[in-house]
Amino acid sequence: MCGIVAYLGQKRALPILLEGLKRLEYRGYDSAGVSLYKDGEVLTSKTKGRISELEKLTSKNKTDATMGIGHTRWATHGKPNEINSHPHTDFSNKITLVHNGIIENYTTLKKWLVSKGVEFKSDTDSEVIVNLIGYLYSGYDSDCEIPDTQDKFEWAVQRALNKLIGSYGLAIICSDYPDSIICARKGSPLILGVGDNEYIIASDASAIVEHTKQAIYLSDNEMAIINRDGFKTLTIDNIEITKDLKDIEFSLEEIELSSYDHYMLKEIFEQPEALERCFGGRVQLGESKIVLGGITDMARKLTRAKKIIITGCGTAWHAGLIGEYMLEQLARIPTEVEYASEFRYRNPIIEDGTVVIAVSQSGETADTLAAIEMAKERGAIVLGLVNVVGSTISRMTDAGIYLRVGPEIGVASTKAFTAQVAVLAMLAIELGRRRHLSNLEAASLLKELDSIPDKTRSILKQSEHIKTIAEENYEQNNWLFMGRGFNYPTALEGALKLKEISYIHAEGLAAAEMKHGPIALITNGTPAVFIATLGSHYEKIISNIEEVRARGGKTIVIATEGDENIKAFADHLISIPDVPDSLQPLLAVVPLQLLAYHSALLRGLDVDKPRNLAKSVTVE
Ligand code: AGP
Ligand code: GLU
Repeated sequence: MCGIVAYLGQKRALPILLEGLKRLEYRGYDSAGVSLYKDGEVLTSKTKGRISELEKLTSKNKTDATMGIGHTRWATHGKPNEINSHPHTDFSNKITLVHNGIIENYTTLKKWLVSKGVEFKSDTDSEVIVNLIGYLYSGYDSDCEIPDTQDKFEWAVQRALNKLIGSYGLAIICSDYPDSIICARKGSPLILGVGDNEYIIASDASAIVEHTKQAIYLSDNEMAIINRDGFKTLTIDNIEITKDLKDIEFSLEEIELSSYDHYMLKEIFEQPEALERCFGGRVQLGESKIVLGGITDMARKLTRAKKIIITGCGTAWHAGLIGEYMLEQLARIPTEVEYASEFRYRNPIIEDGTVVIAVSQSGETADTLAAIEMAKERGAIVLGLVNVVGSTISRMTDAGIYLRVGPEIGVASTKAFTAQVAVLAMLAIELGRRRHLSNLEAASLLKELDSIPDKTRSILKQSEHIKTIAEENYEQNNWLFMGRGFNYPTALEGALKLKEISYIHAEGLAAAEMKHGPIALITNGTPAVFIATLGSHYEKIISNIEEVRARGGKTIVIATEGDENIKAFADHLISIPDVPDSLQPLLAVVPLQLLAYHSALLRGLDVDKPRNLAKSVTVE
C-alpha cells in the first residue's frame, strides 16, 4: 500500500528517488510525486498515474538538489488525482511529507485544525499530519511550550505523532532544515539504508539494495533523524534507542526482470529454484527428517499443541487452508484456518496449548499483524511463515520459518504461495513424524516433496499449450474453478489468480458444492476448470465434470499424466505428474497461474500492476 522513498547524500536526489519509486511501484500506482530541497525551498512535482508520468513531468528538472522525498500512492482517502497525491505540504509551506498508512482520527484532527484557521487543499488523511506538524512547528498551539532543549522540527513531529491514531510510515522534510530528514513508523514498514555518506529511506529494501546492503529496520513508534553527518534513532516519546545495522538479504538481480516480460511470469518460472532454496538444508532425505531451524525452540510445544489456528489473507489464507488439511491428516493436530480480518474481531476462544501460525508473503499485512497481536494478548504462541526478511511479522512472532523464495514483485502471488504450502507440508510431516506418522510414511512423503521442483519444471514446459486454452476462453466473463479435498483450496487460489489480474469474475468452490447453487451459472461455453487428478476424489469429480458438460459448460481439466480415461471428459486437458493428494496443490496450481497470466495478457491488461490492487495491504 504505497511506496515511500527519501534520499539525503552527495548525489542528485531526483534520479535516485525516481528509480526507487519504480522499484516500489508494485506497492501502489494511483499517483506519484517528489519533493526536492534546494536553496531554502522545497519544490514539489506530482501527478495522477504511474511513475512514468512523473518522469515525464520532471524530465526537464535538472536540479542538483541532494535531498528529497518521493511517493507512489494506493489511495485510501481521496480520489487518485493530482491534488490528493503525495508529497503534501503544510499551510505554512515549510513542512512536506509522504505517508503510507491510514490516520483513523483524521476527521477529528482536521476539524480542530480548521477551527484554528488552517486551510486544506486535499481530501486525504495524510494532509492532516503535515498540517498538524506545521501548526505545532509554527508555535500556534498556545497550550504547549516548545522546549528549548529540543530541536523545534523534531519536537513538532514527535508531538504530532503522539496525537495520531492509526498507521503511518513517514518521511518528512522542513524548508528551515536543509540537511535533515525525519522518518517514523507505526504499522507501516520503513527501512533506513545506510550508505557511504548517504541515506536512503524506503518502504522496503528493493529501493535500497542498489545503493547499500546495510539497513536499519524501524519498529512501531520509532523514528530516525537523519542529517549529513549521521543519524539518531529514538522513540516518538523522545527516548534515544540503539538499532542494529542489518544486511539486506537479497541482491539487485533478484528484483530485476531479466529476460521475462513480467515479474509474474518470472516468479512463476522461478518456482522450481525457489522451492529448492526453500527446501535447502531443511528436507534431509538421508535421515528422513525435516530441520526447521526457526522453530527448534518451540518444536516441543508445537508437537504437543492441542490446537493450531492458521491465519492470513487472500492467497496466504488459501495456503493456510491446505495447511489445515495437511496438519490434520499428517500430524492429527486439530487445525483451523481463519481470515485474519475476521479472526481479529470475532473474540475467538484461544485456550492453553493453542499455536497460531500467521502466513504472509510481505510480513506487513495490516489485518494479519492485528490478528497476531490479538492472539498474543490471549496467550497463544505465534509462529510466522513469511517471505520478507526483517518484516514486521517476522519480528513480532515468537518464532518463524522464512519462505526463502526471494522478493516477490508481481502483485499476484505465485512463488510465495507454493513456498507457503511447501513450508506447511514440511511442518506437517515433521510434526507427524514426531507424533503418529511412521518413519516409512514420512520418508516416502519427503521423497515426494523433494521431487516437486523437477515436476514443476515439466509443467512449466506446457506454458504455450496453456496459452492456447486461454486463447479460446479469455473472452468469457464467468468462470468456475472446482476441486475436492486438498485441491479445493487450489481451486480457490486459481480463481483468485484469474480474478485479480484479468478482471474476469471467477469463483472457486468445492466441486461437490456446485449442485447446491453455482451450477445455475453454467451455460453454453462457461469455462469450468476442474482439478481432477488421480486420488481419493477422482470418481466423484468425474461426475461433477459430467454435470457441467451436460449443461454446455466448457471443461478445462487438470489431470494426472498417463490418465487416459479423463480425456473423454475434457474439452481442454493439462496433465501434471503424479504425487500424493496432500502435495498435489504444489503442482496443480502452476497451470492455473499460467492460465491467469495468459488470459490477462490476451485481455491487454497490466499483469504486474492490476487495477485497484497493491502488493502489500498495509492498511485495513
Ligand atoms: C494474492 O495474489 C494477492 N496479492 C493477495 O491476496 C495477497 O495474498 C494478500 O494480500 C496477503 O498478502 P501477504 O501474503 O503479503 O500477507
Ligand atoms: N492514506 C493515504 C492516502 O490515501 C496514504 C495511502 C497509502 O498508504 O498509499 O493518500
